[in-house]
Amino acid sequence: MGEEIIKPKRRKMKGIVLAGGTATRLFPMTATTSKQLLPVYDRQMIFYPLNTLIKAGIKNILIIVAPEHSGQFLNLLGSLLKKHGIHITFEVQSTPKGLAEALTLGENHVGDDNVALILGDNIFEDDFVKQIKDFRSGGHIFAKKVPDPERFGVVKFNKNNRAIEIVEKPKAWISDYAVTGLYLYDNDCVNIAKNIKPSERGEVEITEVNKAYLKKKSLEVTIFEGQWLDAGTPDSLLEAGLIVKEKGISKNFHPILDQAINEFNEELKILSKKKLN
Ligand code: DAU
Repeated sequence: MGEEIIKPKRRKMKGIVLAGGTATRLFPMTATTSKQLLPVYDRQMIFYPLNTLIKAGIKNILIIVAPEHSGQFLNLLGSLLKKHGIHITFEVQSTPKGLAEALTLGENHVGDDNVALILGDNIFEDDFVKQIKDFRSGGHIFAKKVPDPERFGVVKFNKNNRAIEIVEKPKAWISDYAVTGLYLYDNDCVNIAKNIKPSERGEVEITEVNKAYLKKKSLEVTIFEGQWLDAGTPDSLLEAGLIVKEKGISKNFHPILDQAINEFNEELKILSKKKLN
């Protein structure tokens, strides 16, 4: 009799959206609201990363928010998707200590599962449904060629296109490939994140999580060509809106999300009529 092959347990994929931070580069707009609640063309920014997770079939999503904006997020998303089978919860991050803190703040949410972490200000034209659904173990990140790599986490490849180095905002050029804000990790990421010390800029860096997977030789990096928008400055916010309009990105949301937003619009109209009467 042949040896029985024990397949690793198939874990579910939980989602986390990082929507905290202070967004000083968008002052004074972000003095009154969160960056991720600013409009990008005809939808609040947070809907774009939410759409990426929902399109990939993720049903449990944790949103990390800053204390001063938690009420606004709750108003918009608290019950928006409940009846559509998508469970949204919130965790307040008291101060922006870095992206990797999402994994420790989200420990209970992640439980025994894998995680798709996405930045609340990142908009992708591609949907990465296949990569998210096929993900089983290790880490999987997505890289894009950019003209200004010094602004990002950067990944360097060898001549066989294998990732060999990752540096957060490198002072000297190492590569043109930015690590974008969608990260797929297996359950080890929580323990990895717990052991990260703050960097020179005082943040627990997501780059350190990626480096840990790279060191274990279990980091996959997919290079993609589609649009990637990181709407963190007034110029990039404007550009994001124009590209979203031109490419019809907000018109191509998952039907569940689209329906939920339309229902919310109808509720708002009814409420405003009641107030006028
Ligand atoms: O956009 C991709 C880049 O995002 C990566 O290439 C970098 O490796 C990664 O460190 C990150 O760089 P940024 O410096 O641009 O990240 P930023 O501070 O803008 O934060 C990204 C999002 O996460 C933003 O929506 C705010 C939110 N955030 C940020 C911090 C530091 C939080 O929710 N909590 C935090 O503690």
